[in-house]
Amino acid sequence: MTDTRLRAGGRRLLLLCLWLALLPACQFAGRRVPDAPLPRRGAVVTEHPLATQVGLALLERGGNAADAAVGAALALAVVYPQAGNLGGGGFALWVPHGRPDAAEALDFRETAPRRLEAAAFLDEHGQVDREKALASHLAVGVPGTPLGLEALHQRHGSLPWAEVVAPALALAREGYRVDPWLARDLLHPTYRERLEACEHSRRVWYPRGEPLGEGRLLRQTDLARTLESLATRGAAGGFYRGPVAERIVAASRAGGGVIDHGDLEGYQVRWREPLRGWFRGDLVLTMPPPSSGGVLLLQVLGILEGFPVESQRARAQADPAAWVEAESGLDERALHWWIEALRRGFADRAEHLGDPDFHAVPLEALLSADWIAASRVAIGERARPDLLPWAPPAAEGGGETTHLCVLDGRGNAVSLTTTLNTSFGTGRSVGGAGFLLNNELDDFALQAGSPNVYGLVGGRANALEPGKRPLSSMTPTVVLAGGRSARLVLGSPGGPRIITAVQQVLVRHLVYGQSIEAAVAAPRLHQQWRPQATFLEPHWPPGLEAALEGRGHQVERSRQRWASVQAIALEPGGEPRVASDPRRGGSGGVVGRPPSVPSLPGEL
Ligand code: DON
Repeated sequence: MTDTRLRAGGRRLLLLCLWLALLPACQFAGRRVPDAPLPRRGAVVTEHPLATQVGLALLERGGNAADAAVGAALALAVVYPQAGNLGGGGFALWVPHGRPDAAEALDFRETAPRRLEAAAFLDEHGQVDREKALASHLAVGVPGTPLGLEALHQRHGSLPWAEVVAPALALAREGYRVDPWLARDLLHPTYRERLEACEHSRRVWYPRGEPLGEGRLLRQTDLARTLESLATRGAAGGFYRGPVAERIVAASRAGGGVIDHGDLEGYQVRWREPLRGWFRGDLVLTMPPPSSGGVLLLQVLGILEGFPVESQRARAQADPAAWVEAESGLDERALHWWIEALRRGFADRAEHLGDPDFHAVPLEALLSADWIAASRVAIGERARPDLLPWAPPAAEGGGETTHLCVLDGRGNAVSLTTTLNTSFGTGRSVGGAGFLLNNELDDFALQAGSPNVYGLVGGRANALEPGKRPLSSMTPTVVLAGGRSARLVLGSPGGPRIITAVQQVLVRHLVYGQSIEAAVAAPRLHQQWRPQATFLEPHWPPGLEAALEGRGHQVERSRQRWASVQAIALEPGGEPRVASDPRRGGSGGVVGRPPSVPSLPGEL
């Protein structure tokens, strides 16, 4: 090539970079869409049909989205012990109709006990002992759920507290029939071993040495007593102090843990500003740190906004059936952009994200137009498995979870994710109080660079410190049409796959116009920087590996499907459409109609 041609090529590249960098700003201008209408009726979606029924019944009694979300979350603590909980934590978004500035993010994430040090998790070779990190009382974070649910209700609910707790209490006291998913999970060797290691868990889930079978009536009298205490004395007096607190401390002490009364009495929820970002004329509200989910979601959407993803849409609309079934509208170039955007976000997660009360998270820089533009420009036609996390300019110095959504008839939305971390948490129950304890502290980078149960690595930003919250991937999200009224409410379990699942459902629905049901059912991919490989669910078309490998991606097709997105989308006419992921046994419904029939294990 001559010098002139090289210079011309360089100029063209520079112009292309400028165009890519400026594109989103141009797209934001003047693209506000008219208000979405009020929902014609309220809607609820959760991972258990009984919890969905509880939420719908509370809406029918005149409750709002906060009442229904709290009632459903408490019901999940009874009927969905894999993830529903009193002994865990989570996050929720409250988004009132038409007032996005009044939206709030509630952080009820567990905290590290004051007397716990990371060294407690190391074995004699100085390596993280995975059993200690997942199945011992050391792994237990100070629970946040009781105070969190109470705080959400106190601030935004409208029904009396006791009325909101009552349905869960009835389910615990009078019992419910074990569903096929719980029966299946109780047979899982890892969970069985963890649960059976605790006499209190064993007594509930493996009476007479056998797992509870499908259809068996399960009454949980100890749990009912704890819920009663919560209903009558509130969280501070009925859980964090008094007999329940005594039992938590005794269980911890007996099991080699360090949670004490000071930890319980000192626990506080945090009300935080949600992260806000515009995407194609809609306002995305999502969870700030200590979740990484919202940061990554906005980074990835920001990057994708500047790519010509529209061109794929025309093909999708030309033949929607083929698009849904065979993915023919999403070519490998678009997927390459998804993957590379995710890789960049996850690299920064490992380096920079942690509890903002303990670590200065460079949030502004990570969500800045500069970061987004630089990342987009750096994405070429080939995979970049070797990329390193963003470094601040030298001058500035460095299982199982569950999600539920409610949209009430007044247009208020709650998006709530809660967890014990892996299924059934540590498997350890609090004797006499009837609830399982989380193993959330494995979400810390217990040792720099040493992967946690999801293969996530981290360093100083997410190191364990007394009182600190471990970094999370939970991504409760609400999208407001034109920045005003709820258009899409969604979230998921799945560890880091939460982030990729939420991103993909959101993009499929908002960009490619797929129905919410199709977007939730569609195959997913996952990329989290380390390991370098991109994982594909089984149902992608067969040629996809070769196409992505041709761009330098390392690809692994999984035999399993993952995550369990729960979503409510509002149709232009105001009819809510509810999608509970067919990968799991959840159920969604609208007021006045029966909830959807859950999938069975092995169906998908
Ligand atoms: O907070 C987190 O990111 C994890 N503890 C969530 C765990 C999870 O989603 C497991 N679910 N399948």
